[in-house]
Amino acid sequence: MDALNDLIRISAAVGADPSLVLGNFGNTSVKTDDNKWMYIKTSGTALTEVSDEQGWRRVRVADVLNLLSDKQLPRMDEARRAVHLDAALLLACDDDQPADCKPSVETFFHALLDKVVVHLHPEAVLSAACSKDGPQLTATLFARGKYPPLWLPYKGLGYPCARTIRTLAARYESEHGRRPEVLIMQNHGLIVSAGSTEAALRLVKKTVAAFANCQKPITPLASQTPDPKTLNADRSAIRQAVFNAAGRYVAVHGWLDGQMRALLADPNAKAFCRGGAITPDEAVILHGGPLWLETLDPARLTRQLVKRKQAGAPLPVGFAVKGMGLFTAVSATQIPFVGDFARSYLRVRRDVLHGGLRCIPRVLAERYAETKAQPAPAGVLSGRLAVVTGAGSGLGRSIAVGLARAGANVGLADIDAAAIDQTAQFIAAERPDVATLPLPCNVTDEKAVDAAFQTLMDIWGGVDILVNAAGVAPAYSLVELPVDKWRFALEVNLTGYFLMARAAARIMIAQAIGGAIINISSKSGLEPSKNNTPYNATKAGEIHMARGWALELGPHNIRVNSVCPGNVFEGSKIWNPEYIKVCAKKYGIKLEEVIPYYISKTALNREIKGQDIADSVVFLASDQARRMTGQTLVVDAGQVFVR
Ligand SMILES: NC(=O)c1ccc[n+]([C@@H]2O[C@H](COP(=O)([O-])OP(=O)(O)OC[C@H]3O[C@@H](n4cnc5c(N)ncnc54)[C@H](O)[C@@H]3O)[C@@H](O)[C@H]2O)c1
Ligand SMILES: [Zn+2]
Repeated sequence: MDALNDLIRISAAVGADPSLVLGNFGNTSVKTDDNKWMYIKTSGTALTEVSDEQGWRRVRVADVLNLLSDKQLPRMDEARRAVHLDAALLLACDDDQPADCKPSVETFFHALLDKVVVHLHPEAVLSAACSKDGPQLTATLFARGKYPPLWLPYKGLGYPCARTIRTLAARYESEHGRRPEVLIMQNHGLIVSAGSTEAALRLVKKTVAAFANCQKPITPLASQTPDPKTLNADRSAIRQAVFNAAGRYVAVHGWLDGQMRALLADPNAKAFCRGGAITPDEAVILHGGPLWLETLDPARLTRQLVKRKQAGAPLPVGFAVKGMGLFTAVSATQIPFVGDFARSYLRVRRDVLHGGLRCIPRVLAERYAETKAQPAPAGVLSGRLAVVTGAGSGLGRSIAVGLARAGANVGLADIDAAAIDQTAQFIAAERPDVATLPLPCNVTDEKAVDAAFQTLMDIWGGVDILVNAAGVAPAYSLVELPVDKWRFALEVNLTGYFLMARAAARIMIAQAIGGAIINISSKSGLEPSKNNTPYNATKAGEIHMARGWALELGPHNIRVNSVCPGNVFEGSKIWNPEYIKVCAKKYGIKLEEVIPYYISKTALNREIKGQDIADSVVFLASDQARRMTGQTLVVDAGQVFVR
């Protein structure tokens, strides 16, 4: 257990230090004193997540070493060998961990080295590891040490890398009388190996500090506020080009701070952005350096990306726009991680340039990008950017959850900020692979609506789906209806729907990749209900507005449809005790008879739930409804049969 405790300690210590890890990648291992067992971090676990219970495997060292000396394996076809080794590594594990937890892909080289092994990709080390003069730079930096770092030429990951280490470490041992304790992996990172966790940690810090001394500082430029119109147009252009080239809905985020702009204002920026990936991680996460753009012309960018796609190359994730900053095009949940990662890699690229960038072979880079690509969220609306109003309660909440279940990221608009938070928590618990964005606003307030959409643009860079559901139902008989209640309903149910649709349509038109707008009307929009003048009028108005918008927006492939729900009691604040009282009075029945009474009026004689409405919205938002616009879907369990 000492070895496991050591593993937890060293993993936490290096994982918590941002100067040592990049993107939380890296792996660690600790062997038992008899060198029989090795506790090693599992693949896909963050360093800071290794604990008593999880994040590690206990591996038989001899089994791994035997695999490395197996004479058949080097001759085996690469793909077959990978499958064989995967299985063999799992067989070398002996513990109670779940069978699908794989030990690190680098288990092979860990087995070859001293008791404690730490493998990281520090930004400072990469500046040398990805530089053509990396070996000389490393030799000069450590010229005074008795045991210089061992330089490892790039031979891929896992097994081939370990085979190289085996040969070179043996040579090193015969020259220096002991195994190397610091290894610089060309185009990859750093390995440190020592007899104790303390010694390993000391060595890691000392080595990284030596390389960090060679890094140029970044002097941030003064902050500037770019014109929001230009910025929005740039974001739309990138979304459009990525969609046209790859059919993917991405979130486009701009990194425009003084530090990022300083990196890109470097006189060599154009040159250091260019070129393929410099490490496997950069190939997987960023698909190489960012695309350098002097100006951002949507048609030209589309042509560039389509050409790249046709040549079989992965699309860039970063777009460096001269004088503006860096834009990233990724899944919405990945924005912060990819932004940090891209910033580090820009710095590495800038610092490497003096010796010349050394890229990994293009075929390997493309293979990494392909096989380890971040999967897009599953579902018919995968990656789409949606906004739902009234998302804090009832139908709006059910629809937001339904869109998230279908793989969309959802902007949650509601006047009630606390209620938005709750909806966000529901979604996070069920679909951590999609993002939510709180957009607290009063939909009747023009400025607030436009500000909410600007927030959306600033964070995600676009919108593909708008669902208008924030509605009110002041229930009075005609003769008792106060004019302010009438005006209030007009404001929320009509002005609110209009303002949201106008703001969304402006963005959708600029993006030029289509879109879907859905108005949640009501069966009362088709057939009036008693004591509901403002509701009847506004709900009918919503359907008719949608039809008009369908005509106007059709040429942009923006579809506008309505959903008319029947009575949905679940989670609705419209169905509050006061409203139920009005209904009981209307039909001369007891309070507890109201809900069964409404259900009994449906042909299906079944209660309608929020998910029933959400499913119809997902359908209308999806490509399955691609030739439907200006239409009205009635989801009322069979109650209203008019149009
Ligand atoms: N529940 C039903 O039986 C039913 C039936 C047919 C249609 N609908 C329609 O579905 C929609 C939602 O109804 P519900 O029953 O879920 O209502 P609800 O009252 O439970 O939820 C409405 C949400 O809208 C928000 N909201 C209200 N005014 C707002 C404003 N000015 N700006 C921003 N947010 C505002 C509220 O804070 C609330 O979270 C309405 O348009 C309603 O007409 C409901
Ligand atoms: Zn690595």
